[in-house]
Amino acid sequence: MKVGILTSGGDSPGMNACVRALVRVGISNGFEMIGIIGGLQGLLDQKFRLMEARSVANIIHRGGTVLTTGRSKEFRTLEGQMKAAQILEKNGFDALVAIGGNGTMRGLHKLQQVWNGRIIGLPGTIDNDIYGTDYSIGFDTAVNNAIDAVDKIRDTAQAFDRFFLIEVMGRHSGAIALDVGISCGAEAILMPETVTNLKRVAEDIVAGRERGKNFAFIIVAEGDEEGDAMEISRKMSGLVGEQCRVSVLGYIQRGGNPTRQDRILATKLGAYAIDCIKQGKTGILVGEVKGELAETPFEESYTKKRSLDSYLIGLIDALTI
Ligand code: F6P
Repeated sequence: MKVGILTSGGDSPGMNACVRALVRVGISNGFEMIGIIGGLQGLLDQKFRLMEARSVANIIHRGGTVLTTGRSKEFRTLEGQMKAAQILEKNGFDALVAIGGNGTMRGLHKLQQVWNGRIIGLPGTIDNDIYGTDYSIGFDTAVNNAIDAVDKIRDTAQAFDRFFLIEVMGRHSGAIALDVGISCGAEAILMPETVTNLKRVAEDIVAGRERGKNFAFIIVAEGDEEGDAMEISRKMSGLVGEQCRVSVLGYIQRGGNPTRQDRILATKLGAYAIDCIKQGKTGILVGEVKGELAETPFEESYTKKRSLDSYLIGLIDALTI
C-alpha cells in the first residue's frame, strides 16, 4: 500500500501530531507513507517526500504543519482534479489522506469521482465547522489561545473602565466566538449563526453600566453579518456613547503548541484513518462524535451545517445580568 498524506487549507495546531500518527501507524502496518508538500497544489506539482518513522520525530508538540499547506485554485477545476488523478495513478498511489477543512473535503469529494484509490479526509481547522465531528483538530488550541489573550485585554479594560470589541477568527463560523465569549464572560457574542442586533447590544451595555459594571467587552466572529470589527466598533461607539476600542486577535489564534485535547484527537483520527484504508474504506471524513469514532460521506461533511450548542447560546443573556 502506498499512501499519500497532505495538509490543506488553513493550518491548525495538531496537524503535525496527526501526520505523525498517520506515518507511524501506517509504517507499523507495512504501508509506504509519502508526504505531499504544500497541500492539494503540492499534489499537482508532484512534491513528494518519503516519510520514515524518524521523519516525524519531535513534531507532536508543534503548531503549523511540517508538510506545509495551501489553497489551490487549479484543484478546484475539473482539469485539476483529472490531473491529480493521473499523477496519483502514475506514481502508484493506492490511497490518499488529507487533513483540512470544508474546502478540502469538497476537493476530496471531487477527486473521488475521477480516481479509484481510497480517499480519507480528516477534520483539521480551527473553525470547528465540519459536519461529522464534534471537534476538529486545532479548535481547542485556538480557543485556548484566544481565551489567554482575552483575559489579558480584560485586565486592562477593567483597569481603565473601558469598553472593548474583540474579534476572533471564523469567516463562516461562530464556534470560536461562542466558546471564547462564554469562557471569558463577554457581555455579548456576535456570530454569523445568530442575528446581530447592535441596538439591543448597545442598550444592554448601557444598562450594565447603570447597574454598576465598570467595564465591558464584546466578542465578535470575523464573519458576523454586521461587518468587521472596525465597522462594528464605529457603530457601537455611536450607540453606546463612549469609545469602543478594538482588538483583532488574528493569526495568533492559529499557532502554538497543541493542547492535550488536540494531540489526542489528532493521534486517534490519524490512526483510525489507516484502519479505514486497511479495511478498504473510501470517500469518508473520519471524526469523533460523542466520544465515538465516526465516518461521514464527504458530501455530507461539507454540505451539512454543524450546529452550535444552542443551550450555551441560550445562556448568554442570563450570564450577563
Ligand atoms: O479556516 C480557518 C481560518 O482561520 C478562518 O477562520 C479565517 O477566516 C481564515 O482561515 C483565514 O485564512 P487565511 O487568511 O490564511 O486565508
